[in-house]
Amino acid sequence: MPIHDSVTLNTGAVMPTIGLGTWKSAPGEVEKAVEYALKEAGYRHIDTAYDYGNEAEVGQGIKASGVPRKEIFLTTKLPNSHHGNVQKALEESLAKLDSGYIDLWLMHWPAPMKDGKADKSLDWLDAWKAMEKIYEDQKDKVKAIGVSNFSVPYLERLLKEAKIVPAVNQVELHPSCPQTALVEFCRSKGIVLTAYSPLGSDNSPLLKNEIVTKIAAQHNVHPARILVSLWANTRGATVLPKSVKPSRIAENIKVVELSAEDMAALMKIEHFNKFRACKPTWTGWGNLGFDDIEA
Ligand code: A2P
Repeated sequence: MPIHDSVTLNTGAVMPTIGLGTWKSAPGEVEKAVEYALKEAGYRHIDTAYDYGNEAEVGQGIKASGVPRKEIFLTTKLPNSHHGNVQKALEESLAKLDSGYIDLWLMHWPAPMKDGKADKSLDWLDAWKAMEKIYEDQKDKVKAIGVSNFSVPYLERLLKEAKIVPAVNQVELHPSCPQTALVEFCRSKGIVLTAYSPLGSDNSPLLKNEIVTKIAAQHNVHPARILVSLWANTRGATVLPKSVKPSRIAENIKVVELSAEDMAALMKIEHFNKFRACKPTWTGWGNLGFDDIEA
């Protein structure tokens, strides 16, 4: 399948296909990881979030790399704790990132929370409408808006009741969680999919999976490269492998061309090894419309 180096968002902006993921990148490690990714490994796309608690270090890594800000695609996310105070969250993210703007601002979860619990006094749709207004009025600060962890029913509600079609939906995607119906739905609406935890997150069984290791051996590459390449070979998708180790950061961006047979074999894995690294139930809002999970 053809390898896609970048995708074009519904705003017209270009988003590089491979970005450095920073979820669970520990303080003291992430600045160096970002600097290395940009300066040495050729990344031009970095993903962070208010809730990762590492925006300041990500910003320092960007500065330390010496790569001009305008060459970098930078994503951060509205935290669940700030659905009632969207502008404040944006200002805090920009200050921590030490950047005048972000390329993509995502609603992290459709799940307002307060003090670590679901806040049922708020509706995520109102926060989305506030994000829309900021996008319209403050384009100098926010170049595109999108969502994360949105299932098909939640997207259907957004598309029906709001104005702006999200540029991106960032969700967990890997062969043990391929979410084919969601991928097809987003594609039909022109919403770019971004795969988080593409390797299956920490201690992933996917790196030892028989099908993955067999395809990796055929291509003579590490299994991680196959798992990243799956999405670089998929039209309309981008992918965020996370690592804080220079050799892995460098390896993960070198995608390989997969055959249709390789892709089909990878998609069979979910039939006997299905898992999610991040279940939406942690928010206290049930399964958030992901019907593979009990509410
Ligand atoms: P580390 O950061 O120590 O390199 P995901 O992208 O699915 O969230 O997976 C991240 C996990 O996979 C982390 O534990 C990360 O560890 C590890 N990892 C990242 N790249 C590789 C690689 N090329 N080979 C093996 N493990 C990797």
